[in-house]
Amino acid sequence: MEVWVLGYILLLSSVSGMPLQTKGVSERNGASLSSSHAVSPARAARHRDPQAIIIGVRKGGTRALLEMLNLHPDVVAAASEVHFFDQDENYDKGLAWYRAQMPPSLPGQVTVEKTPGYFSSVKAPERIHAMNSSVRLLLIVRDPVERLVSDYTQVLHNRQQRAKPYPRLEKILLRGGQLNIQYKAIQRSLYALHLSRWLRFFSIGQIHVVDGGKLIRDPLPELRRAERFLGLAPRISAANFYFNQTKGFYCLRGEGGHGKCLDESKGRPHPTVEGAILERLCTFFSRHNEDFFSMVGKTFNWC
Ligand code: A3P
Repeated sequence: MEVWVLGYILLLSSVSGMPLQTKGVSERNGASLSSSHAVSPARAARHRDPQAIIIGVRKGGTRALLEMLNLHPDVVAAASEVHFFDQDENYDKGLAWYRAQMPPSLPGQVTVEKTPGYFSSVKAPERIHAMNSSVRLLLIVRDPVERLVSDYTQVLHNRQQRAKPYPRLEKILLRGGQLNIQYKAIQRSLYALHLSRWLRFFSIGQIHVVDGGKLIRDPLPELRRAERFLGLAPRISAANFYFNQTKGFYCLRGEGGHGKCLDESKGRPHPTVEGAILERLCTFFSRHNEDFFSMVGKTFNWC
């Protein structure tokens, strides 16, 4: 093959969203790509608004979903939670600031950010809609009782790290023998309530619901569905996952074959909670869960 033809193919593949050449493009790479190969500005790596956002739920498996999607060669993921649409001090910095928080990407790549706080935020749906009314939203949900206990465990852990006391979950949950439904971890598990606010701005077809329980037990089918929703070719495969007995969760294998588990804040052991309280929570959530199932047209195997 003529040398110039080979060069042209390499150049095309480096900007067309193909694997390896495009993945993890850095700002420096982007700049050198555009200068040394005279790539047109429209084809160069740059910060773009995300085309997809993982909006929640907190403790639903949002980090696992983002990291697993990031295994796809055409996905570029923001490393940390941006909190643009749910925190006024960030929102006031404007869209240019938001865009600058995204990693540089090439045309054809899908930029994804995740901020679980968006799902229960009153302002986030309208603000995201104003940025891009056709953005794709991913919502990962998990049994609301398990989510609640996970939420409590995270706060408990943070308090223990700072050597601060924190009551038992049972004590927080019961006020005068009644369920304390104002408790934030209960409120965050009211999926139908929060989803109804999103449905004022987005159609249900724009919101892809991921089953967080299934993502834990068998991640690949959930990722296949997410790939389809994002319009991506099926590139994530079984070879990208291996079960780590010590952690008790699937870990990820990326390019080069090296494995990586999520950090220790994900998949923490939960404290034991009294069975009677768990049953009470299940009863409390069951009506809300039914509402959620009919909104999303899908049922989940929750307590
Ligand atoms: P627990 O730590 O309570 O088990 P988020 O990233 O939204 O905070 O969600 C954290 C939850 O992701 C964890 O809750 C864990 O159950 C779940 N998860 C799903 N897949 C996981 C994986 N492969 N490794 C670790 N945690 C995972």
